[in-house]
Amino acid sequence: MGYDVIWLNPIFVSPFRDAGYDVADFYTVAPRYGTNDDFARLAAEAHKRGLKIVMDLVAGHTALECEWFRQSALPTANAYTNRYIWSHSVWDTDGNNLISGYSDRNGCYMKNFFYCQPALNYGFKTITRPWQLPMDHPDCLATRDELLNVMLHWSKLGADGFRVDLASSLVKNDPTGEGIIELWNDVIGRYKKEYPNNVLLSEWCNPKRAIAAGFDIDLLISSGLKAYTTLFRYEEGASVNDEFNFGDSYFRRAGKGDTAEFLRDYLEHYHATKNDGYITIPTGTHDIPRLALWRDTEELRPAIVFCMTMPGVPLVYYGDEIGMRYIEGLTSKEGGFNRTGSRTPMQWDDTKNHGFSCSDAPYLPTDPAADAPTVEAQRKDPDSLLNLTKALIALRKAHPALQADGDFEVLHEGYPFVYKRTEGDETVIVALNPSDTVRTVELPTASDVLLSRGAAIDGNTATLGAVSYLIYKA
Ligand code: NOJ
Repeated sequence: MGYDVIWLNPIFVSPFRDAGYDVADFYTVAPRYGTNDDFARLAAEAHKRGLKIVMDLVAGHTALECEWFRQSALPTANAYTNRYIWSHSVWDTDGNNLISGYSDRNGCYMKNFFYCQPALNYGFKTITRPWQLPMDHPDCLATRDELLNVMLHWSKLGADGFRVDLASSLVKNDPTGEGIIELWNDVIGRYKKEYPNNVLLSEWCNPKRAIAAGFDIDLLISSGLKAYTTLFRYEEGASVNDEFNFGDSYFRRAGKGDTAEFLRDYLEHYHATKNDGYITIPTGTHDIPRLALWRDTEELRPAIVFCMTMPGVPLVYYGDEIGMRYIEGLTSKEGGFNRTGSRTPMQWDDTKNHGFSCSDAPYLPTDPAADAPTVEAQRKDPDSLLNLTKALIALRKAHPALQADGDFEVLHEGYPFVYKRTEGDETVIVALNPSDTVRTVELPTASDVLLSRGAAIDGNTATLGAVSYLIYKA
């Protein structure tokens, strides 16, 4: 999108039962991180350096400790009674979907994710029970207005936009997404009147719906479409949720994967959203095992080349640029469970806690291995992943064909995976061979090889050695 952005996971007041995705006060920075003034200063300093700051917006639920929920849980009616979704009786658990007996209020509350994340009430698209309110009920519209208020509050302090948590599920009983699209069209419409240039990134995993809803970018990750998982985290145990584990990832040395499943979903959504918004294929997130799980450094290279050369907006999860490992065997921290191993501190150097903190009790331990990757070591090594990532960022900036809007056409599926990116007169071809087997393929001739490793092109014949890549101007 022409600028660099830092996305911060939630930094708001929270009991941290889900790493801050359980917000107790949407208007205040958690003391462990600082103050609202600190945030304003962070944003101002980032802006001076040409960076933007995107905050996490936990739109769907709050913590049990949120004052709105405290009020809502009271047996007497008040302004927050309908701020959350409650059944009419403590015995009506709606087939065990609702949490009963929490307070003296005679009803059960709906949770979104963990028990401690009561669902905010934006209404139901289809009403099937007497206690379900329609989307246009004044109390549901009040929830919507509060959400907009939160967005405006942080934007005034300098936020350049939001990554919206569970953006797809605010409206209940809405299988076609009609209700939620309507809601976001309204909220985003009003927000963009005030902040037209701010960016909104959804956790929807369904770009067609997310872009129709008004988001600028949608995260293509493991929930929703399978596309992302088939590339990187298809093996049993390689995803957070076992329902996604049923195959061989494309980006593995074994070369047993495929691009077909990815392309089926991706191309449908890419073509449908191309002129209206972007897809991001992140190297990782705080919710999935790191890319480095079961991959050696060589195997990480074609995966990073792919993430940085696809259309849309690239997104690097901190540490993936140095190949930080998924740390196995950690006890769950603040609701991380098996996500905890992807949330260990950034490894800067070889000092205490790898330079992240001088605390004797850091948030989580860093990689205990003697060869734990660090920024300091990789800065000095021209062949490091860090320097590859930097080279790819520079390449992307220098070549419009490789940027967000450049056209995308697949030239060869499977191994090797070859695609053409075009913008105006410029055509750049990217060929990837993540497998251990040498592959040859007929391709357009090269005028200039931009970046390659273990691969070459001679006339029309490209030879891609084991675990290699080739990026050239055609
Ligand atoms: C998605 C977030 O990325 C995840 O970390 C969180 O646990 C759930 N939403 C619930 O808010």
